[in-house]
Amino acid sequence: MTARFDLVIRGGTLATASDVFAADIGIRDGRIVQIGEALEAGAQEIDATGRYVLPGGIDSHVHISQPSGDGIVMADDFESGTRSALFGGNTTVLPFCLQEKGQTLRDALTNYHALAEGRCYTDHSFHLIVSDPTASVLGQELPALVADGYTSFKVFMTYEGLRLNDAEILDTMDVARRTGALVMVHCENEDAIRYLIGRHEASGDVAPRAHATTRPVAVEREATHRALSLAEVVDVPVVIVHVSNGAAMEEIRSARARGRKVIGETCPQYLVLTADDLDGMDWEGAKFVCSPPPRDRTAQDACWMGLETGVFDLFSSDHCPFRYDDPKGKLNPKGKASFRHIPNGIPGVETRLPILFSEGVMKGRIDLPRFVALTATNHAKTYGLERKGRIAVGMDADIAVWDPEERRTIRHADLHDGADYSPYEGLEIQGWPTTVVLGGRTMIEDGQLRGRPGDGRYRPRSLPAI
Ligand code: URP
Ligand code: ZN
Ligand code: ZN
Repeated sequence: MTARFDLVIRGGTLATASDVFAADIGIRDGRIVQIGEALEAGAQEIDATGRYVLPGGIDSHVHISQPSGDGIVMADDFESGTRSALFGGNTTVLPFCLQEKGQTLRDALTNYHALAEGRCYTDHSFHLIVSDPTASVLGQELPALVADGYTSFKVFMTYEGLRLNDAEILDTMDVARRTGALVMVHCENEDAIRYLIGRHEASGDVAPRAHATTRPVAVEREATHRALSLAEVVDVPVVIVHVSNGAAMEEIRSARARGRKVIGETCPQYLVLTADDLDGMDWEGAKFVCSPPPRDRTAQDACWMGLETGVFDLFSSDHCPFRYDDPKGKLNPKGKASFRHIPNGIPGVETRLPILFSEGVMKGRIDLPRFVALTATNHAKTYGLERKGRIAVGMDADIAVWDPEERRTIRHADLHDGADYSPYEGLEIQGWPTTVVLGGRTMIEDGQLRGRPGDGRYRPRSLPAI
């Protein structure tokens, strides 16, 4: 007789965004079909005794194979980036498809799909980056793409070649208003940054630390206020991504107090790194150059508070990997001459969940349901992944089994991305995902890779459920 279940995950402690309880999970045809006590035997079994059984992580903010200009190459392609994500307990990632100036969004997507096709270890879907909001992009392309399942797009207020002016942001937000899609905003004031860069370079202050001093809190706070105000004018919800400090959080709180729908996101770098890390000897500070930059202990405490109290809905990695000791990475010839040319971004897709689990759950700052909400459930709701982010009957069987007793020290040598360092090297962690199931298929079993590139599939998305 054939078994009723293809797979049973047995004896674990399950957590959802609201509850923690002991149960077995029965899986058939890639979906969760039963949750209960003492389920009958499956064709395959995972013994989760003494383990937490959580929804697979959804990392809704990662950069993979993104064109980075000037001879700079991102350290991860879809194979290495999603492999690393999988080892970190994730089953879905949402990378950004960047529209280059003069390019249509469709062309950008064709290229990006080709890079991902057959290479992914996790399910995936793409946000769009709108860098050239022409009349045809806003009038025809973008609305059609929203209807095709690309239901979120990011705009930048910083970076030469990417930043949009306020009029362009308003027009792009208006597409979101008309279609129901979601706009994500990178909030830093480019003109203020350029002014400060000029002053620093004039005084010969060109070391990596100057990256942090030329992007102070005021630059992020002002842009956050402006982005929220523009969203209010258009009357659309908005996602404020990678928030680094209490002043920007205050802007989110007061917009919400005015009745605005605002989704807040923060990332591991704002919890465990500070600007002092950019001071490293021999240009090692370049390993921590990301935007917004890590701040100070007060900002870290504020971000923790934001995770605990609901200012933040999303905890993402902003994985944006460049190799350090590489002329195509952090130590490119221009980057060695001035902080201004060090590519922005740090790796972290594999360490996002263990850092929050260890520093958050194990240290008693957040409980397990909040961890699940911040790392999976809220991402699915926000970005329209209807069958993901929850352990419930009918959902995709995307599950991470965590060993809460496992102690590790983060060493890049043990990670699976394409970079040559981790900004979290040496951080002591308690709790790690040891077995990961994607659509009912065991991809990692007790730390051993069982899945193959191509097991992860592209998933078009619905409109946000917020
Ligand atoms: O420094 C960062 N965060 N690089 C990634 C691109 C972005 O702004 O998210
Ligand atoms: Zn950004
Ligand atoms: Zn990013």
